Amino acid sequence: MRSRRSVLAVPGSNPRFLEKAQGLPADEVFLDLEDAVAPLAKEEARRNIVAALREGDWTGKTRVVRVNDLTTQWTYRDVIEIVEGAGDKLDCLMLPKVQDPTEIVWLDTLLTQIEKTMGFEVGRIGIEAQIENARGLVNADSIAGSSKRLETLVFGPADFMASINMRTLVVGEQPPGYEEGDAYHYILMRLLMAARMHDLQVIDGPYLQIRDVDGYRRVARRAAALGFDGKWVLHPSQIEAANEVFSPSQEDYDHAELILEAYEHYTTVERRGAVMLGDEMIDEASRKMALVVAAKGRAAGLTRTTRFEP
Ligand code: GLV
Ligand code: MG
Repeated sequence: MRSRRSVLAVPGSNPRFLEKAQGLPADEVFLDLEDAVAPLAKEEARRNIVAALREGDWTGKTRVVRVNDLTTQWTYRDVIEIVEGAGDKLDCLMLPKVQDPTEIVWLDTLLTQIEKTMGFEVGRIGIEAQIENARGLVNADSIAGSSKRLETLVFGPADFMASINMRTLVVGEQPPGYEEGDAYHYILMRLLMAARMHDLQVIDGPYLQIRDVDGYRRVARRAAALGFDGKWVLHPSQIEAANEVFSPSQEDYDHAELILEAYEHYTTVERRGAVMLGDEMIDEASRKMALVVAAKGRAAGLTRTTRFEP
């Protein structure tokens, strides 16, 4: 699984941003042809993106291009020009405003045709599906299971809030008047279930108050606590916050590795199932929970500061 703690949005119409993004420590960059690009700039943005993918240095980053959604006239040319021009330098395409599994099937088929034409390995380019309206959310299970190429579901809060008439203009914040609970809880959980049912990752969308890094952290922590794998970042100041929030703490990472080591020892050397680790009882389910945290910690480059002593 690719690391996607921080997913940086870069408008394809801005060569300066396309250049700058290469030096930023985001796990993923997505070069945008959709809502960050004006209709009259779409064609030039395609050329900018192909050039940036071909000539740029994106080492260590997951490289994604967001094409326009299928209700527009641009999508098929977006896909053909980007993949024919730079498919060998691309990890995934992101399809926005997905409402129905047939949209993913369409993209999968088109990708296969282009890969065959170009002599690329068939099936290597993955898909990220953005869920941004009620129909997409209600169909999230079938969307998540619609193609082997799918790697992640992505929540699009701005479009989503507009589509359901949620009464706020501040993307990612609670709507005024909703004092208790979290107005996004159902949506986030619904996406999480659909994604995990098909072993996909799940990513939270943007937080538009880019100067409020504390606000970003607060909102990101909610998604991370539920199990989300990462969140969009719109500005360099949000990247560090995302990488930190979506990595386990050193303490949790050490604890997870300790559980794995202790459990291995007790089940194999001592042949016992449920055992005590300090004051805590651990069993097979604890091992599974520890595996998740340990994998995230290792992916984030953490190293252990404690060892298990029987
Ligand atoms: C992102 O695309 C959003 O609509 O929030
Ligand atoms: Mg959107």
